Amino acid sequence: MAIQPRDNFSGKFGVIAAAAGSAVGLGNIWRFPYITGENGGGAFLLIYVFFVIAIGVPVMMSEFVIGRRSGSNALGSFRKLAPGTPWWLIGLMGIVAAFVILSFYSTVSGWTLEYIFQAINGGFAGKSMEQLNSDFGSFTSGSFRPVLWQIIFMIMTTVIVIGGIQKGIEKATRIMMPVLLILIIAVCVRSVTLPGATEGLRFLFEPHFEKLTFKAVLMALGQAAFSLSIGMGALITYGSYIRKDTPLLATSLQVAGADTLLAILSGVMIFPALSALGMGNTGGPGLVFVTLPAIFQSMPGGYIFAIVFFILISVAALTSTISVLEVVVAYMKEEFNISRFKASLIGAVSITALGVVCTLSFGLLKDFTIFGMTVFDLMNYLSANVFLTFGALFIVIFTGWKLGKLNFIDELNQGGKISPLLARIIIFIIKYVAPLAIGSIAIGAFFIDGLT
Ligand code: PFF
Repeated sequence: MAIQPRDNFSGKFGVIAAAAGSAVGLGNIWRFPYITGENGGGAFLLIYVFFVIAIGVPVMMSEFVIGRRSGSNALGSFRKLAPGTPWWLIGLMGIVAAFVILSFYSTVSGWTLEYIFQAINGGFAGKSMEQLNSDFGSFTSGSFRPVLWQIIFMIMTTVIVIGGIQKGIEKATRIMMPVLLILIIAVCVRSVTLPGATEGLRFLFEPHFEKLTFKAVLMALGQAAFSLSIGMGALITYGSYIRKDTPLLATSLQVAGADTLLAILSGVMIFPALSALGMGNTGGPGLVFVTLPAIFQSMPGGYIFAIVFFILISVAALTSTISVLEVVVAYMKEEFNISRFKASLIGAVSITALGVVCTLSFGLLKDFTIFGMTVFDLMNYLSANVFLTFGALFIVIFTGWKLGKLNFIDELNQGGKISPLLARIIIFIIKYVAPLAIGSIAIGAFFIDGLT
């Protein structure tokens, strides 16, 4: 039934590497720590992990199923599986979300390139957290360098996407992901052994539920969706490249597990250092770019660590940006019948145009605000908490109520049979639990705390 008109991943490990490559990125290392910091620490983490398991994994599975069943892009897949209905609008929302995400994501990805450069030049040596903080501020508020790095990063992303996803992504992610893990563990060890680090660990792991607002719960859900790359069709698109002999449940669990482990480790890396180095209230998008250099310059071999680390963060970002651009490219290529090359160029140039506005919103355009937020903040906020949250909602509704139980289970069973009881539980979550949970959180946050 499903046709596979395009490249396939080479096998199970290739899929995991590519999907984990998409999931593990700036969302884990840059976004998770500061969002957690702003929303009360431990209680936020607990809710976050709960959402990954209860909502993230079922949505991820649904996306893989939709993609593999249809063998088509994020929009085309809904058209194929539900012809003559408006369900394709979910796919369209995913394409728009890809534009929004990549625009601000490429800003931060560009910063990682600048920090490789600074690390090589020994730019962190002997500097205090305050100094590093003000260096970060003056770099990001400039107009030339941040834009230049962003454009360079978008060119890197485009070149890989033009080359097709199979060999480049699979090969790079197979090597880089384990190395990234080892390095993060090494920095964690340094961070938790700094004097005074326990306070930071307590902040991350001790839940204080009184700090949890409805909006914080929505942020946890949004962050889970963002970090797992769900809700916008990236995993539908990747799903369409998955071979029939790959088990989708096991793959989803492994990808979600790796992603969550890396997010928690990033927290373990950041919070102890924050409290030990005495910058308790530094937050926001600069957190990682200030705290990590401060740790590096206080550790033996920190010069090398800093270089390797910022290279790895950019690679982690790159394996994610590829998957976002691929959503747009696969869509344009298949729906408008244009070449991969043309689709990649059109997609990348238009996303970069919006991206430059995001980058400049730290300097030149910082007074230009919408709903009281800069363009960067608005894109950052909207992507996770509106686009991906509602995207995830509609995807589970589609899977649970439109695709049909038999189709879903049949596809899930290819490559690895699951027991009838487990199948029933998964269907129950997808049909009732996930839509009700996502819907009530999104609506509750809107009416109780306001959208922004
Ligand atoms: N999951 C990526 C991260 O955590 O950095 C970001 C991302 C990639 C979001 C792909 C959405 C997506 F479709």
